[in-house]
Amino acid sequence: CGIVGYVGTDKSLEVLLGGLKRLEYRGYDSAGIAVIAPDGALNTAKKAGKLSVLVDELDANPIPNGGTGIGHTRWATHGGPTDRNAHPHLGDDGRLAVIHNGIIENFATLKDELLADGFTFESETDTEVAAALLGREYRTTGDLNEAFRRVVSRLEGAFTLLALHQDAPHVVVGARRNSPLVIGLGEGENFLGSDVAAFVEHTRNAMAIGQDQIVTITPDSVTVTDFAGAPVEVEPFEVAWDASAAEKGGWSSFMAKEIAEEPDAVANTLRGRLVDGAVHIPELDGLGDEVLAEIDRITIIACGTAAYAGMVGSYAIEKWARVPVSVELSHEFRYREPVITDRTLVISISQSGETMDTLMAVKYAREAGAKAISVCNTQGATIPRESDAALYTHAGPEVAVASTKAFVAQITALYLFGLHLARVRGTLSAVAQRDAIAELAAVPDKIATVLESHETIAQLAKWMSDTRSVLFLGRHVGYPIALEGALKLKELAYIHAEGFAAGELKHGPIALIEPGQPVFVVVPSPRWSDEMHKKVVSNIQEIRARGARVIAIAEAGDAAVLPFADEVIRIPLAAPLFEPLLAVVPLQIFAMELSSAKGLDVDQPRNLAKSVTVE
Ligand code: G6P
Repeated sequence: CGIVGYVGTDKSLEVLLGGLKRLEYRGYDSAGIAVIAPDGALNTAKKAGKLSVLVDELDANPIPNGGTGIGHTRWATHGGPTDRNAHPHLGDDGRLAVIHNGIIENFATLKDELLADGFTFESETDTEVAAALLGREYRTTGDLNEAFRRVVSRLEGAFTLLALHQDAPHVVVGARRNSPLVIGLGEGENFLGSDVAAFVEHTRNAMAIGQDQIVTITPDSVTVTDFAGAPVEVEPFEVAWDASAAEKGGWSSFMAKEIAEEPDAVANTLRGRLVDGAVHIPELDGLGDEVLAEIDRITIIACGTAAYAGMVGSYAIEKWARVPVSVELSHEFRYREPVITDRTLVISISQSGETMDTLMAVKYAREAGAKAISVCNTQGATIPRESDAALYTHAGPEVAVASTKAFVAQITALYLFGLHLARVRGTLSAVAQRDAIAELAAVPDKIATVLESHETIAQLAKWMSDTRSVLFLGRHVGYPIALEGALKLKELAYIHAEGFAAGELKHGPIALIEPGQPVFVVVPSPRWSDEMHKKVVSNIQEIRARGARVIAIAEAGDAAVLPFADEVIRIPLAAPLFEPLLAVVPLQIFAMELSSAKGLDVDQPRNLAKSVTVE
């Protein structure tokens, strides 16, 4: 879910709706706002559906503007996406409003207690329980801060909670536990948001709130305490990008813009980290070279696209630094009692830095003694704050729900880390390091070359817009790319798609091949390993013989694939480990264009949210 809070002048409606627009990637099942009007009345509007439905509702039935308000865009957990379940939820006979992100795990117990106390509920949400509880505590204490503290201290689970009460017309209170909340500092106005995108058009001065902390904002003050009310220090930071970076500009979609930004995403992630022909990552200094020299295993944890970036990274890190690297989905890792020692390094990858599954896995690993590095694209996010070191990707804000530019930036960051580790551990010759660095530095221009095929790939997607199933094959680092190609197509075009390791084909999936079945094949360079190339070409022949329609992604000049492929998409020559950074791009473009050809919403696919802050 996305959350915005505002106190300042009478422009809450603009601030809240503008903020929600930028946060809509976090959930778009329903949206709502609550604003305290200058006459002190609390008004709300909420609607199931995308934010535009709420905007239409406000056009038809306007509510007065005011200086204090909260807004919410929802990704449903408790209770389906209906008007009634949309936030805000009211308490104290409609005098206070609450919005919430996360899940209150003990809500059933609290609800029983309130029902026994005579309360009635309009929705099925856990949030309404918090609103009712706040109303009851407010009646007892007559003090919003005190009442709010009492409520959040009783809640279990993960939550960001924002509340306002018409008796305190210039105050918004907020609290967080394991869910995100940042403060935006203005002049005579202050903001709260799930992330800085909520307020970056108004201010770039921000502060991230720590775990189990409460914030109270008024137009000219910001106070942060712990749940017991003791004041805590919060470090300010400046947002590294401005509002225009999170705008669509002239592009047809955020995704089209973000794919076009991939050369920059890689170049900016490299910037300042390649010094005199060596990789230097000052952010890792805090962890210490001694620690990195001693680790005996690395586990990469992530979800979705980030996990596939992790798989690609694992090949390089293991090869260069000679440490065993495994990759696991965060939600699986945590529940299988993995072997973790103080020589284990956990690398989490998360664009948002808020994915709850990954956050919980990081906490679990650290409690068991592991060191944790966070590869993250969002300043001030929770996961980097909960890690021993953060290695930021500098892809810029990624707004489209399905990840594209963050993926290539994540692989870049992992490669940088692999080279850093190899240097610390002395496992790679100077020549090999230099070659790898030169390859990395060349990636942005090579991606730019791949982008030139956009139109050709768009044509292919148009021809294939009736396709009901697509398979993807790859080997070695091409394998995670096949998985990512399939994921993109599922997410964006709602087409059944599967990625396989090419060598696994004969062990089962080949039974799926029937005449006309489209299969994308990521073909490794013949210059790299003639043997592997030959094997993939044989795999192509095997499926071709059974009627598959083959679309090969192959390096420029590879003629061996021509007789067997129906289509060939060319990528520039690159050393083997660097091919994934190029080969993924046509697959992203293909999925995006197929989605557009089907008339779907590329940026906001159904049922998904960009940052899933529930487990
Ligand atoms: C969600 C998104 C995916 C994304 C995954 C991990 O499920 O829909 O596109 O890959 O979360 O997100 P993260 O922010 O942790 O990289």
